[in-house]
Amino acid sequence: MRWIDTLEAAAAEKLPEAAHRYFRQGSAGGISVGEAVAAWSGYRFRPHVLNDVSTIDLSTTVLGTPVDAPILVAPSTLQRMVDPDGEIAMARGVGAANSVLGVSTNAGTTFADFGATGVPWWLQLYVLRNREITMRMLDAAVEGGARAVVLTVDTPVVGRKEDDGPTIWDLVQPGQWLANLPEGEWTDDDLDKADDLTPDVIGWLAERSGLPVVVKGVLRGDDAKRCADAGAAGVIVSNHGGRQLDGSIPTAQALPEVAEALAGTGTEVYVDGGIRRGEHILAALALGARAVFVGRPALWALTVDSSAGVTRLLTDLATELDHSLRLSGHTTPAALTPDLITT
Ligand code: FNR
Repeated sequence: MRWIDTLEAAAAEKLPEAAHRYFRQGSAGGISVGEAVAAWSGYRFRPHVLNDVSTIDLSTTVLGTPVDAPILVAPSTLQRMVDPDGEIAMARGVGAANSVLGVSTNAGTTFADFGATGVPWWLQLYVLRNREITMRMLDAAVEGGARAVVLTVDTPVVGRKEDDGPTIWDLVQPGQWLANLPEGEWTDDDLDKADDLTPDVIGWLAERSGLPVVVKGVLRGDDAKRCADAGAAGVIVSNHGGRQLDGSIPTAQALPEVAEALAGTGTEVYVDGGIRRGEHILAALALGARAVFVGRPALWALTVDSSAGVTRLLTDLATELDHSLRLSGHTTPAALTPDLITT
């Protein structure tokens, strides 16, 4: 059995039941979370033959940062529930694989501490109703060396999870998340996500931070175009791991439309959701993604073997991508084109 396929069960052994459920679950009826992996596996390849594939180069750049392979780690909260060093262990694991880490607004580690790891990281930002809190967190992330702002736009409200019995929120200890909430007296209303965002927010964040803004949660070509027109440096095709609008289309299906809409704009396209194998990454790159993000697998790997687990996850996926790239008759991610794929 593939080591990657053993990770979730091994993590479940170590985690409280409510924590495992929170990490794995989707919103509402679980349709989108249930379809994500199968949607990638549904693609069929038209490989080239008689190409020299003796030398493979997986390296690329993401918003100018060099990475060993086009495989990055998606932002997720509550990493301190699975590892005592939480996001710092995740960062070390990512750094050892020469990749890039997305860091959640709701991390349990301060942005200054991320900066001290030296690992390239992108701030995932939820714009809150209270813009002052949002600004102060953004400023702290800039100070901590964030290289981009990943603006999550699929969460005007948090997707409903249908739980019976105790939930992870009954277990969370102070300090395991919200380490970057600025000092002050904040109400629940202050901390709710903003539900009045428009494309103007992209320019505002870019100007304030001086960083490229990547819009996360785009599933349509027309919205991708609105983001690019408003100055986005990139978009992440994502349905939040099936945790927001349930029944949203699989990202494997949304990617081609978004990539087509952004062709020639210079706006970088990324994708996440259900990516578990080298063949899935091959399909994503062929369909126009510059790199992919993995979410839950990184959480399972962190649970099972801390930073070493995260490094192994990323390098195992890179090895699989190397293998499938070779079998497809290509030697670099950039050489892939959509005609590799048929449904
Ligand atoms: C997430 N995700 C997420 N996204 C975000 O923008 N901010 C966040 O704080 C979180 N937190 C979070 C927690 C947990 C437990 C999960 C599973 C996911 C979504 C994440 O960045 C990513 O979009 C998906 O996880 C990708 O799908 P896969 O790889 O998990 O299938």
